[in-house]
Formats: sequence, C-alpha cells, structure tokens
Amino acid sequence: MARIPDAFIDELLARTDIVEVIGARVPLKRQGREYAARCPFHDERSPSFTVSPTKQFYHCFGCGAHGTAISFLMHYDRLEFLDAVEELARRAGMEVPRETRARHEDGEIRELYAALEAAARFFRRQLALSDKARAYVERRGIAPEIAERYAIGYAPDGFSALKDALGTDPRRLALLDRAGLLSKNERGHVYDKFRDRLMFPIHDRRGRVIAFGGRVLDPEDSPKYLNSPETALFHKGRELYGLWQARQAQAALERVVVVEGYMDVVALAQYGVSWAVATLGTATTPEHAELLFRNAPDVVFCFDGDAAGRRAAWRALESVLPRMREGRQAFFLFLPEGEDPDTLVRQEGADGFLERLRQATPLSEFFFAHVSHDVNLASLDGKARLAERCRPYLAQIPDGAFADLMRQRVTELTGVGARSSPPQTHVPARRAQAAHAGATPAPRRSLVRHAIALLLQRPALALALEPPYRFSALRQPGVPLLAEIVSLVRERPGISTGALLEHFAGREEQAALHKLAAQSLPGEEEAWRAEFLDAMAQLEKQTLLQRIEELQEQVRAGGFAALSAAEKAELLELQAAAARRG
Ligand code: UTP
Ligand code: MN
Repeated sequence: MARIPDAFIDELLARTDIVEVIGARVPLKRQGREYAARCPFHDERSPSFTVSPTKQFYHCFGCGAHGTAISFLMHYDRLEFLDAVEELARRAGMEVPRETRARHEDGEIRELYAALEAAARFFRRQLALSDKARAYVERRGIAPEIAERYAIGYAPDGFSALKDALGTDPRRLALLDRAGLLSKNERGHVYDKFRDRLMFPIHDRRGRVIAFGGRVLDPEDSPKYLNSPETALFHKGRELYGLWQARQAQAALERVVVVEGYMDVVALAQYGVSWAVATLGTATTPEHAELLFRNAPDVVFCFDGDAAGRRAAWRALESVLPRMREGRQAFFLFLPEGEDPDTLVRQEGADGFLERLRQATPLSEFFFAHVSHDVNLASLDGKARLAERCRPYLAQIPDGAFADLMRQRVTELTGVGARSSPPQTHVPARRAQAAHAGATPAPRRSLVRHAIALLLQRPALALALEPPYRFSALRQPGVPLLAEIVSLVRERPGISTGALLEHFAGREEQAALHKLAAQSLPGEEEAWRAEFLDAMAQLEKQTLLQRIEELQEQVRAGGFAALSAAEKAELLELQAAAARRG
C-alpha cells in the first residue's frame, strides 16, 4: 500500500543515514564496510545484526529481521508506517506530500473492509434461510453459539446470489471483485466465486473480515475447500484462522495449538479449547511462526501422522527454528491416521485432546528423530554425517539456553563438538536442500543470480543498460525477476537496496532477494560493474542463441520455406551477430 509516492520514499531514504537512526537506539560497532550490533529483535550474545550504510538496510543473520530505516522505526519504536515516515522526514527536513491519492486509497481500503463485512452478513442471513445448509451445520455438530462466534454462513447455490444482492451498481461490483468474491469465465461473464458452500470468514488481528474459506456441502463438488484469492487485504501466508477469536477468549494466551482445518478450530473451540488456530491451506510460513510466538510463548503444531503430515511438520520446524528465543517452546503432535482434531475432540472430549497435547513431542526430539532417521549412529561416518547435517540448523537458533542444549545433544550423539557456524551457513543449508530436492543448479542460472546479487549490492548498476532489454526474452529461471529489478531501477534511479527489497515485500521472491542482498560481495564497485556488464553480455548472447535455435528448429521441421522473409533475414543477422561475439 504505497500511499506515499515511491519517489518520495526513495529520496527520504537517500537523505537518511540509517547508521545514525539505528545507532541512536542500539550501540553499533564498525566492522569493515558495515556496522554490527547485538540484534535488538532477538536475544543473543554475539552480534549477528548488521547495518549497511551503502545498501541503506539492516539485516540480522540470527533471526532474519531486516529492512530500511523506515521498517526499523516501525519495529523498534513500534510506529505505524506513516508515523515512521513522518519521523524520518522531520529529521531530514522534508515535507511529507499530502496528496489526494493518499486519502483516496485510504477510502478504497475502508470500502473494501465494508464490502467484506457486508458479504459476511449476507452469508450469515443465507445460512438462516437455507434448510439444507442448516442441516449440514447440524450434521457436523456445530453448536449455534459457535456458528455465531465464528460468524459461519452459507453462500447459496446459483451463480449470482451475492452479486445480485451486493453488486447492484458497477462501483459495488468492482469492489466485490477486488474483495476476491467474484470469478470470471473465458467469455468475460462475472459470477459468484463461492456457491453452495459453508462460509468461514477469516478475520484479521483487529477482528475485521478480510477473506473467506468455503466448504462444499455436496461431497461431489470440488475443491473441498476454496479460499479467497490474495487481495489487498488478504495474504494467506500471514494470516491464521481463528487467531482473533482465540484472543477474544483470552487476552494473554499461554499457548496456541496450530491445526490444519477450519472445522478443527471450530470443533476445538466448541469443546473449550478456544486457543486453536489454522493455517489456510498452506505450509507454516516464517510469518506464521513469528505471529504465533508473538501471541503465545508455547506453540503446539498438530499434524496428521502420515508422511505428508511429517513433511508439513518439518517445514513448520524450519520456520520456527530461527525464532526459538529464550522462553519460547514448540511441540509437535501427530494424530492417528484418519483422525483430525475435529473427530478426536468429539470422540475423546476436551480432556482426551488435552492429554494428547501434554504428550506432544518437543521440537528437539522431533528434530533429532528426523535428522537421524537414516543415519547409523554406531558408525563413524554416520556420526559425522549427522553432525554435518545439524550444523546449518543449529546456526539458525538464536543464542540462548535452547541453542546450547541442542548443541550439547549433537555432541552427545556424535561426539562432535558442534561448532557454532559462521552466519553464512544459512545460505548453503538452503542450497543443499534445493539440490537434495532434485533441482539441478544449472550454471546458467547462477549467471542470472549473480547479476541479481550484483544489482542488490548496487542497484544503480542497472542504469548502465539501455532498453529494450533483450535478455528478458531468455527462458531461464530468475530472468523475469532480473528484468523487473532492472526496470524498477530505471524508474527509480536513486533507489537503495533497502527500498528495492521493500518493493518486493510480501512476494515470494522476497526471501531469496533478501539473502542475496545480505551477502557482502568481495571487491569494489568498479569490479562489480565490469562483472555485471559481463554477465549481462553473456545473457544477451544466450538470448540470441535461443532465438537462433528457435528459428533453426522451424527450418529443421519444415525447411527454409517455413521461415518468412523477415525471419530469414533475422536468422542471418543473428548468426552474424553471434559470430561477432565469438
Ligand atoms: P482437510 O481435507 O483435512 O479438511 O483439509 P478438514 O478440515 O478435515 O475438513 P472437513 O472435516 O472434511 O470439513 C484441511 C484444511 O486444508 C485446506 C483447508 O484450509 C482445510 O481446512 N484445504 C483442504 C484447502 O484449502 N482446500 C482443499 O480442497 C482441501
Ligand atoms: Mn475433518
């Protein structure tokens, strides 16, 4: 939600000295090009927090916190975005533009909330009106007060119930669309996205409806659950179903249990376990982990006992490990096959379920069971392999008693004193996993990555390129991202690394970009420039060869006659160009 023009933010960040801003709050020590400190966002003994004056961003190798001077103020001083901008603008002697667009957008967002609220009310009314839907609710054993608390509703059958009721003029229709409540077919016909489904509104941390999950009533229909698409208000990797209700039930939560489904949350609440939340058909993301621990010191993850459940549990573990600060605990509960918390709590009551929670597996136990499942600890090789495997994970745990105990356990198991690793181990750890998953890191890919890495060190390098950016036609992983960064820098020539990362906030690519940005590349700017131009020249050449190959493919299939006159000329020209480039 860039309510303030990007150009203003770029200028503001360019005029702000991030070292000064952070240094006024956290004691910084110079370390080569950067500054280091003990991270203000997690407990640690040795400094893994760095501030880069050239990149204008901060980064913690321990907990992953990162951002610009603006995000630092937001997190450290707990300011809202606009207030953080005001604060920095005041220091820099700049005036925050109060443009009409800001008010306009604010108004639009408000309208979006209102549209979702109206939809939720509409679905509630429809539930009351539909015998079929009420019978389903009853069959699932959902008590009326629980249906009320979770504002469960029903989206009627047919294609336009909601659209007819709330999309009465083009403006409202557009609003419903932006709220993620409509679909469009190939012929452009617009209709209700949710039809004949039990509707679970998803609330944000302030209790506002931001999205829906809808379950089919008819078992023949699919998918069983349909979620709202990502919208301006809804990012599923950041939300937890039921968190708002859990916080309403208890101001200070001692623990939360994370389950997989809407029905599980609702059933548990009905049996008095009001502190269950669900991820929304996604793996547990780092944002989820952060959100969970911000709400409760103890988190129990509940998964199916099958292979898929164990895989999901491991992903959750990977998300929580870097957040295991002092005082936090994570547990894993695996359920018997064919059961979920909904069925279990109905069979065993709250006591039975709570007993299971009490016997949940501590994170450490699950971790060691997982990493050693295919290792023969009686052999030297096995011990070495286990120690090697643990190292990158242990390096991610914030300093503290838990990290010490985990290291100690590795030593007990292997006899190897697990050295605490240098921060860079995060990156190889990830890469090792990717390789494990069968992704062959092609050498070409590293060229694209290298170009991106250089741009993240010094975005202005992109200004050396002139459009049209021919390389963007290259079909290789990362090329669209590289092209996007190059165009972004052209649009915003003064953009800092920090602001560039901010541009990708909330996007899938963010984590990877962030890692590349945090690296300190050896050498100096002039060398980077040469490397960058060289990488780009190679990519251009590959693009050229790709096109030649395409044209030659046509020739192979249908002879020279298959090419138009223009294509023939193009082919000759490309071949000449390729020869010139050697
Ligand atoms: P399950 O299939 O385990 O459903 O999906 P459930 O929660 O037990 O639901 P009931 O009891 O059959 O009604 C668990 C969760 O996975 C997501 C939903 O968030 C669901 O609650 N999911 C599942 C989807 O997003 N889409 C699907 O098609 C299925
Ligand atoms: Mn179920």
